Amino acid sequence: MSSQDKPEVPEEHLPEVHASAHVPAEGDPFADPGLPAHEPRVTDIDEKAAKRAERQVALLFVISMLSTIGFIWAYVGIDKHRIIDIFFFGKIGAQNFALGGTLGLALFCIGAGAIHWARTLMTDEEVVQERHELASDAETREYAIREFAQGAADSAIGRRPLIRRTMIGAMALVPLSGVVLLRDLGPLPGTKLRHTEWAPGKELINEATGKPIKPNDIVKGSLTMALPDGLVEKYGPAGQKEELEHGWLEEAGKAAVLLVRLEPQDIKSKKEQAWGYEGIVAYSKICTHVGCPIGLYEQQTHHLLCPCHQSTFDLADDGKVVFGPAARSLPQLKIHVNEAGNLAASQDFAEPVGASFWERG
Ligand code: FES
Repeated sequence: MSSQDKPEVPEEHLPEVHASAHVPAEGDPFADPGLPAHEPRVTDIDEKAAKRAERQVALLFVISMLSTIGFIWAYVGIDKHRIIDIFFFGKIGAQNFALGGTLGLALFCIGAGAIHWARTLMTDEEVVQERHELASDAETREYAIREFAQGAADSAIGRRPLIRRTMIGAMALVPLSGVVLLRDLGPLPGTKLRHTEWAPGKELINEATGKPIKPNDIVKGSLTMALPDGLVEKYGPAGQKEELEHGWLEEAGKAAVLLVRLEPQDIKSKKEQAWGYEGIVAYSKICTHVGCPIGLYEQQTHHLLCPCHQSTFDLADDGKVVFGPAARSLPQLKIHVNEAGNLAASQDFAEPVGASFWERG
């Protein structure tokens, strides 16, 4: 905008030194510097800009309204079992995605609209609010204490221990009703967190190809993700009944393992050697810190790194933690080669996989 195009600033909007501004007293570094000169905003001096800001605020509120309508439509109109594949997020429940997206957008637009409104159109004149002393004067405080003591005496709470104790009991028990409602969070997990779908003889299925894995498929320096045979058939592909779908996702998450091939002589622990097959070892893919999937492998050091908080596990030493916040080693799955020449589990994990949980001790 050239200087000629600039809107003319009315006299009353020209910057002026605020009345309360003053020069700090000499030698007093903490003197109140007062308020800076008031600068008018473009919307204060240009009616067109003000109208434009008004329309922008209104647009944000309209988008919020549409998003709320979209939220209601998503709740009643989208099949809650429908799974969609979204770039970056992967497979996700269509209804949850739509509910989260529309509600988030509706709230964001209300917030953004209100902020834009306040910053561009509401008055921005600086005001100074003088405060009186916050504490009451001595006389008022004494009066309050006298009143309190009189109230206690009038209620006879000191002389009626039975009432006092039962009242305390009643007030202590009332919060329990809220605790009982926690039951609505769902059934207790029982021993579900301690077991996975792995069982003696279950073949390892390559998660990418859906085929059983032969020892030669595992090459040095690569990571192969595997799931137990039968998991997909048992729980059904996404899109079937809700409980099956949930079972599939949970069990696949718990049972996922990573296979790597190490030089047998590099493996420091005898148990790890015995639980692997000719240098091939299988470890849980779930970080023992707070349960992120792990996927970064460094071949030279045999370190496996969790991208969430950088916990690092040594795959050549029983999956021990060498760095980061995780407190427990990565659980190893004992494997062997079956008669068909495929890798198979010799047993379930010997300990719970993933993050610690309360009852684990
Ligand atoms: S979840 Fe892996 S380091 Fe935190």
